[in-house]
Amino acid sequence: MCRGSFLPPLLLLAAALVAAAEPASTLSGPARPVTVPLGERGHAVDLPDTDPRVQRRVTGWAPEQVAVALSADPTSAWVSWITGDFQMGAAVQPLDPTTVASVVRYGLAADSLLHEASSGESLVYSQLYPFEGLQNYTSGIIHHVRLRGLDPGTKYYYQCGDPAIPDATSGVHAFRTMPAVGPRSYPERIAVVGDLGLTYNTTSTVEHMVRNQPDLILLLGDVCYANLYLTNGTGTDCYSCDFAKSTPIHETYQPRWDYWGRYMEPVTSTIPMMVVEGNHEIEEQIHNRTFAAYSSRFAFPSEESGSSSPFYYSFDAGGIHFVMLASYADYSRSGEQFRWLERDLAKVDRSVTPWLIAGWHAPWYTTYKAHYREADCMRVEMEELLYSHGVDVVFTGHVHAYERSNRVFNYTLDPCGPVHISVGDGGNREKMATGHADDAGGCPDPASTPDPFMGGVLCAANFTAGPAAGRFCWDRQPEYSAYRESSFGHGVLEVKNDTHALWRWHRNQDRYNAVGDEVYIVREPHKCLRPGNNKLTRLSSSPRLASSPLVTLVVSQESHRHRVVVQCGNSVSAPRISETQASPAESSSVIQSDTSPLVHALQSTASQDVSCFHFPGHNRGKAAPSSLSKLIGPGAFLHDLPELPELDDLFSPNGVILDAQKRASELFGSSKTWFLVNGTTCGIQASVMATCSPGDYLIVPRNCHISVISALVLSGAIPKYIIPEYNSGWDIAGGITPLQVEEAVKELEEDGKRVGGVLVTSPTYHGVCSNVQGIVSVCHPRGIPVIVDEAHGAHFRFHDSLPSTATEQGADLAVQSTHKVLCSLTQSSMLHMTGDLVSVDKVSQCLQVLQSSSPSYLLLSSLDAARDHLSKNTNIFDDPLAMALETKDQLTTVPGISVLDLPCFASDFPAIDPLRITLSASDLQLSGYEADDILYEGHQIVSELVGTRSVTFAVNLGTRAQDVEKLVQSAKHLSEKCFLANSSKLMKEHRVCDPLDMISVHLTPREAFFTKKRRVRIEDSLGEICGELICPYPPGIPVLIPGEVVTHDSLSYLMNVRHQGITISGAVDAELNSISVCDL
Ligand SMILES: Cc1ncc(COP(=O)(O)O)c(C=O)c1O
Repeated sequence: MCRGSFLPPLLLLAAALVAAAEPASTLSGPARPVTVPLGERGHAVDLPDTDPRVQRRVTGWAPEQVAVALSADPTSAWVSWITGDFQMGAAVQPLDPTTVASVVRYGLAADSLLHEASSGESLVYSQLYPFEGLQNYTSGIIHHVRLRGLDPGTKYYYQCGDPAIPDATSGVHAFRTMPAVGPRSYPERIAVVGDLGLTYNTTSTVEHMVRNQPDLILLLGDVCYANLYLTNGTGTDCYSCDFAKSTPIHETYQPRWDYWGRYMEPVTSTIPMMVVEGNHEIEEQIHNRTFAAYSSRFAFPSEESGSSSPFYYSFDAGGIHFVMLASYADYSRSGEQFRWLERDLAKVDRSVTPWLIAGWHAPWYTTYKAHYREADCMRVEMEELLYSHGVDVVFTGHVHAYERSNRVFNYTLDPCGPVHISVGDGGNREKMATGHADDAGGCPDPASTPDPFMGGVLCAANFTAGPAAGRFCWDRQPEYSAYRESSFGHGVLEVKNDTHALWRWHRNQDRYNAVGDEVYIVREPHKCLRPGNNKLTRLSSSPRLASSPLVTLVVSQESHRHRVVVQCGNSVSAPRISETQASPAESSSVIQSDTSPLVHALQSTASQDVSCFHFPGHNRGKAAPSSLSKLIGPGAFLHDLPELPELDDLFSPNGVILDAQKRASELFGSSKTWFLVNGTTCGIQASVMATCSPGDYLIVPRNCHISVISALVLSGAIPKYIIPEYNSGWDIAGGITPLQVEEAVKELEEDGKRVGGVLVTSPTYHGVCSNVQGIVSVCHPRGIPVIVDEAHGAHFRFHDSLPSTATEQGADLAVQSTHKVLCSLTQSSMLHMTGDLVSVDKVSQCLQVLQSSSPSYLLLSSLDAARDHLSKNTNIFDDPLAMALETKDQLTTVPGISVLDLPCFASDFPAIDPLRITLSASDLQLSGYEADDILYEGHQIVSELVGTRSVTFAVNLGTRAQDVEKLVQSAKHLSEKCFLANSSKLMKEHRVCDPLDMISVHLTPREAFFTKKRRVRIEDSLGEICGELICPYPPGIPVLIPGEVVTHDSLSYLMNVRHQGITISGAVDAELNSISVCDL
């Protein structure tokens, strides 16, 4: 066999081996430290000012140095640019920022820039050195405009400038917004660079980086190195070596910033870039002014993320929360940065943004001699806070080399500590860091390590254990250092999902996509996040940080610049919820500040790897019946947890449940909100029990829900019925009026009876609202509390065109079925209180009596999640409302079909829920049941409620355009099919009389409930005292309530109901052959 014939299999084998070589993973524990031998590095030489890439390519007021930065979330972004040229000289005259407007036009296609933004600021800054022979600088006009209302994960085209001035707008650029915030979407590639500079090595880094197609760039400080120049444009590789002694102040040559902005424009105008300050941005000028160029030229989401400084801020991109911190601003625990960081981290919800990534300039874990342990004071102050919040990765720059750590905390290997990655050489002209502190003779003198600008204090203590015990340096590469290499380059982080991210270091000497170092960074939340909150579990196993000498940095952050605030955006009408919605910081007085604390607590607890000896016996799903587990998924069982300490106690809440309820009360505008696991039913019962003692009167509409009757039984209150208006053509009852309430109250008062409360059903099942405010004005002056059964109106607060809520109208107690129109799980409801007419403690006590002592956490957390969802989506009802209105309009044009509306009632009811569509096909000679059958059998349309003369459809947040279109088409079909066919038929009369008339009460509901019963044939029941509730639904009006005498009218109504084959759910004999009567 010739030699060549071996090659293909060998090559294949080699290829297979290469393909099989998976990157290492942090899961396999700390890696053995690796030092890559020093290769070729080449000297980095700055691009000269004659290079065409750094020269001004525009004229007049045309924009240049265009750049995009992210705002705090993916729905907003900043566009920045410069108009007008800079000036250098002994006397410079700053430009007037008002000369040119700041406008960005943007849209989804290059030829359709339909949106316009002009909210932000425009400014100039100056760098002043009023010393003999030195030159001053003043910038062009720098514009920052914020675009809002963007769709996440979407490509936007834009043009910036002043459209009113000829040739003062830019060409069309495009960028893509970050993916929507949430645990399932991530930016594909995040490029990370540091210490970039503007050399020929920089251009190689940038070119490689762009070819790797990042969606986002993090630049970790040290941007253009203008501070390696004198004001006359003379540069050096080492300022302190060449100029320090001969200059009155550390000079800079600010045009290098403009060069950098011009060179970078093709990148920064297309890929959002987020920057933090490095030491080369300090750029001290007279009056101790610092960071003028940095803070003027870049846009930061500081204000949006609650920071008051351009030096530290945070933002979300997909499932990642980034915090960008300042090495050169006060980082002490009492300082503003630290307090902001505490607030920011407390808000992070790891179920929404599982990844927490931090970035700043000066590394804490570096083993190079240059800048060795220079940032130890910052580490001592901040490390525990970051660790306790489970930061996953830390990116830094500063040291001109590459280094990746093992997971580490306080210099100790810790599986829950972050991975620190320093990418300190993007190509700048300073020397590369090549020597290590652990090289023989390499350990620097500790006294030489502190940076004066960072406080000038030595915070590094000697080590007491490990290979460096008793020393400042290690005697070999420390175990926390996993990989180090002195090379130029950039890194790319690919976050694959909520636990896995691939990190790759790309060296300039390789092809752009070749990999120098790579590792899978794997999160282990079950191991590292403490259940019930965001924190880590293992603080106690790690050595506590030694407290540091007090280091308080006073860095002048004011730059010399003229700032003009340009238009502050369009005034958008504030959604109603904003009036009462407190900031998360205000609302999280209890424990949590996640946006859905209960959901988060449940998730954290479920992610524990623990041996469970508690109920329920399916043991977090391990013993779940497989048929149900397959049906609803194992997750439902995993999260079906009992009242564990971290999950709080519904009946004595002081943790996550209290926090979640507080948030709900803020959103719904109440003074107190209770979560209910037994539906609105138990809320109504508790409300009646809390307001009425046995023998008190409760004024109620006759068409109240069955839960009110059971409340009367439980409380011993006596009903005083108000007969609501009844439309016999529709066989539907409406609401009640303030006048009716006033008459009932007066009647009782005249008879010397005590009124415990008034209960109003508003809206009714069909959406008819009563004038709650009017009823409150009748009751409150008399000290009578108003309870509103608002089971069908939980959504009213979330759109201006929906009726006002009972709480807004002053009701004392309002009970809402969050599970009806809103999106919590069936059986979950809320009880809202306002005012002080009713005792909070009494309501709590009654709720405890009425609810299970093992409330379902699935139900409770579904309430928390529903509230959170609503609070984040203020326009959520726009589409359903538009669809419902359009559908009603279309249905009214269908021959033979009518739609229920307010004019169907003579009373002046204030509103009807636009999302409830009730139609009648009576003109087609169809009963509600017949119409419903046709719609279901023939068109697969499932309604919410069927009556003798109507069918009701509930439009909700899940209703799709195709559903309502189908409804309209089906109604048309029904009309076409039945119009002629049935025209000769006469509509069968389904009713014999008004079910609300002729009530004769003999016993209270409670007395009747506890009286002995017997069964009689329905035909023989005339004159008997009814012992059960007989309530055909619809119209949902009880014909007989326990304790009422069976009259001729009620009997004939029931016989008719039976004749139609309607069953009475809840009656002892649902087919009404017999009824239960009191055996007195
Ligand atoms: C008017 C009215 N009130 C109260 C309730 C009881 O609500 P829940 O099912 O949440 O207990 C209902 C239920 O349909 C209802 O229609």
